[in-house]
Order: sequence, then structure tokens, then C-alpha cells
Amino acid sequence: MPVEQSKDKITLKHPKGSSAEILLYGATVISWKAGDKRHSEPSERLFVSSKAFLDGSKPVRGGIPVVFPCFGAPSHPDHSRLSQHGFGRSEIWTWDGIIMDNEAGVSVRLTLEPTPKIAAVYSKSFHLSYVVTLAEHQLSTDLHVKNTSTSTAFPPDVIEFQALFHNYIRAPAKDVLIHPLRNLKYADKTDTSYQGLKTETRAGVDVRTFTDSVYEDAPQKYEVSWPGGGIAVRSTHLKNVVVWNPQKEAGSKIADMEDGGWERYVCLEPGYVLGFEKIEPGKTWIGQQVLSVIHEERRMNL
Ligand code: BG6
Repeated sequence: MPVEQSKDKITLKHPKGSSAEILLYGATVISWKAGDKRHSEPSERLFVSSKAFLDGSKPVRGGIPVVFPCFGAPSHPDHSRLSQHGFGRSEIWTWDGIIMDNEAGVSVRLTLEPTPKIAAVYSKSFHLSYVVTLAEHQLSTDLHVKNTSTSTAFPPDVIEFQALFHNYIRAPAKDVLIHPLRNLKYADKTDTSYQGLKTETRAGVDVRTFTDSVYEDAPQKYEVSWPGGGIAVRSTHLKNVVVWNPQKEAGSKIADMEDGGWERYVCLEPGYVLGFEKIEPGKTWIGQQVLSVIHEERRMNL
């Protein structure tokens, strides 16, 4: 069977050997195994801390948590009662079925609507659907946000939100280079003494020191590469990208981070997180990303 469902998890299996696991909790993809064209043996492409909680008691430290409707600490009045990164990653989503199952890929959909628990902290009417598609060498995630308000009052009941795919890409952090980010403006969250935006000067961005950068007007096409491998990430309608690796400096203070975990991943997170995206009543917004295993011969020139 290409899709297996248990009480709390969905497993996708592609006929060519790739696989993915998605927890209903947070719609968190916790495993993506895929090979490249040269090494057909699929291997794990995401990092999940061995100390992560997978029982729904805490957002998962790893995989691909879904950040919605706020990124970081809430900064919009509609989000004032939410916690860091919002509730998307910490609510139980509903299984909505298989939407594609053929040679090209296997695709499933999860949904989330306001529950009494969500409504107690967030008053907007919304419907989220999250489509995860597994292909032989690729994984795509699509987040659809619908404003389901039927109010005709003025001003309209607009949803203002942020959204992001918090990808923990399994990688040797000391050897990783991310490009192309040169000349982009970015907020450096590690430098609390500096309030403005800095300009990226590096052709390839490394994460050998504590890094927490939010890039503006990002190209939505990235490569995370290291000697012998890499992952390409493409996104749609996600104008920002976050690069985060806490290194020992900040990583050793994260309770659910395994020892030295920061050496084994880099977070490359496409999102709409500087400012707020807006959706009018009845309208839908879609943010998408595609992660692909890079073949060495296809690496971009720096
Ligand atoms: C990143 C943020 O996206 O997530 C960082 O830019 C943050 O500032 C990191 O520390 C992890 O967040 P959390 O809430 O999962 O510990």
C-alpha cells in the first residue's frame, strides 16, 4: 500500500523506494527518505533530535514543523495570545485522504479548522489544508489557507498571518554552504544590538557560527550543499527564507536538542514572515515548497 495510516501517523511509500512519515500532530513530516540518481538506496534527508517529543506534548524538534499564523514571538494584535511560531505545529490535524497515487507521486491531505482550544486564543475563521507529495527524489508541501469568514461587515474580516516551513535538513553543518543569498538584506536575530537589516556579502552562506537570519525578497530557489551531496529547495509565494543553526552556543540550551545535534542539520525555512500576508473573506492563499535531492552534476556554480 502506498499510504499507511495509524492512529497518529501517515506513512507514504513511493514505488521507487522513497518514503515519508507525517504526524497528525502539527502535520509534522518527521521522515523523508530518498536517494539520488547515482545512489539508488534511499537515505534519511531530515533531522529529528533523538530527544524530540513525538507524543504530541511539544512541537517536534526536527522534521518539517508548520509555522502558522505567527513566526517567532507574536507581533500582531490578532496573535497576542499565541505562543512562539503559532499553533499550526502543535495541533492535531485531520486526515483528509489520498489525493494522488500514481507513478509521479503519492499525495495526501491533512486539514485544520478552529477547535474550541484554538478559538480560545485565535478568533479568525479559517480552513487550513496541507498537501504532502512524495516523488522518487522529491518531497513537496503545500499549505492552503482559506479565510472562511462570512461576515459582510466593514472593514472586512481579513486574516493577517505569517507562515513558514521549518525544514530541518540533515546535513554536516560545518561543511554546508547555502546559496544564492548574496546581496540580500536580512535581519540578524543573533545580533540583538542591531535593529536594522544587514546585507549578505557571502556567495555561499555557512552556519559554522550561531546563525539566525531572516532574508528579505529571497529568490525562492536555494541549494544547501556540502561535499558529496545537497538538497535544493524551491518555494512559491514565500518571499522570505530563514537560515537557522544554533551551534553549541544556543543549541546546548535547547532542552529537546540531542547532544551535538546542531552539527547534523541546517534549517532552511521558506516563509512569509517579514510583515503579514493578508487574505480577504472567502479567499485562499497557497504557499508551497519542493525539496529535491541534488545530483552532483546539477550543482549551481557559485
Ligand atoms: C527559527 C527561528 O525559525 O526557529 C529561531 O528563526 C528559533 O529564532 C528557531 O530559535 C527554533 O524555534 P523553536 O520555537 O522551535 O525553539
